[in-house]
Amino acid sequence: MLEKIKKIKNKAIEEINKAKSAEELEVLRINYLGKKSEFNQILKGLKDLSDEEKKLVGPLANESKTEIQTALENKMGELEDLIDMEKEWIDVTAPGKRIKKGHYHPLSIVQRDIEDIFTSMGFEIADGPEVESEFYNFDAVNVPEDHPGRDMQDTFWISKDEDREKGTGTVLRTQTSSVQVRYMQNHKPPYRIIIPGRVFRQEATDASHEHTFHQFEALVVGKKVSVANFLYIAETFFSQFFGKKLNVRLRPSYFPFVEPGFEFDISCTNCEGKGCSSCKQTGWLEVGGAGMVHQNVFEAAGYERGKYQGFAWGFGLERLAMMKYKIDDIRHFHGGDVRFTKQF
Ligand code: PHE
Repeated sequence: MLEKIKKIKNKAIEEINKAKSAEELEVLRINYLGKKSEFNQILKGLKDLSDEEKKLVGPLANESKTEIQTALENKMGELEDLIDMEKEWIDVTAPGKRIKKGHYHPLSIVQRDIEDIFTSMGFEIADGPEVESEFYNFDAVNVPEDHPGRDMQDTFWISKDEDREKGTGTVLRTQTSSVQVRYMQNHKPPYRIIIPGRVFRQEATDASHEHTFHQFEALVVGKKVSVANFLYIAETFFSQFFGKKLNVRLRPSYFPFVEPGFEFDISCTNCEGKGCSSCKQTGWLEVGGAGMVHQNVFEAAGYERGKYQGFAWGFGLERLAMMKYKIDDIRHFHGGDVRFTKQF
């Protein structure tokens, strides 16, 4: 009998130590300590033994039962620790997950860069409404009703007064030049400002035309402002913006609100003037329009004719961003495809 108890105990402990899961342990517990277990039968049979035998078998049986129980508990603890470890296990060689974070739209980045450069040169930032009166968008900047200048920009009209008094219609502004006279009316020269903003034109879209885009206007007014000042500011700005020394070239052109008027080019940002496919071998890239503020514009703002001089320029923000980041289609900017915006 004693031998048998020892054997059962040893076998039980051996099997318990080999168990690999809580379920296996439970089966072993039932087998060895359950009601129907051999062990239980032995304990139940104790009463039929002689007193002599009882003294020997009883304590051994109880001790063995406790030992088996302890083995079960210890193993259970071990298995639980293992489960915890498995849960906490980290594969340090696994590839990382990309953390998604917000970022600026490329146009915002470019606008901020431009604003930084101009404010470092003492410019202030001004703005005006996108829904603008016909007066500020056209009449005030010297574009009378039947003037060919008005046809240069196809306008979204919000309301149009057919036999109008001067400038009573409402438009989505076609140019940031609309802010020029608004600003002049409330400020006394000298001043230098930039006007970044969204503008609208009713035109067919293609890789280089959008109906909604952004312009950047610069306006410098004082007593002795000249074309040379414009050239200096423009060269400084573009060189800083593109991070290399660039030259500015003027070509005669026409805009109603400037006289003389120019279109201006910068030396090609790709080949720096040597000639390449970006600049069609000319060495120059067209950037925007500029000129000396027309005295009619000053007059519309209530300034005395001939008292001040100034220059204004305007260019498309998208175009500049396209040059800087080598983007081939203006429609990407508002296309809403995150694969595009994500790259910035
Ligand atoms: N407003 C002009 C345009 O939209 C650009 C311009 C601005 C030209 C200032 C001259 C001076 O085309």
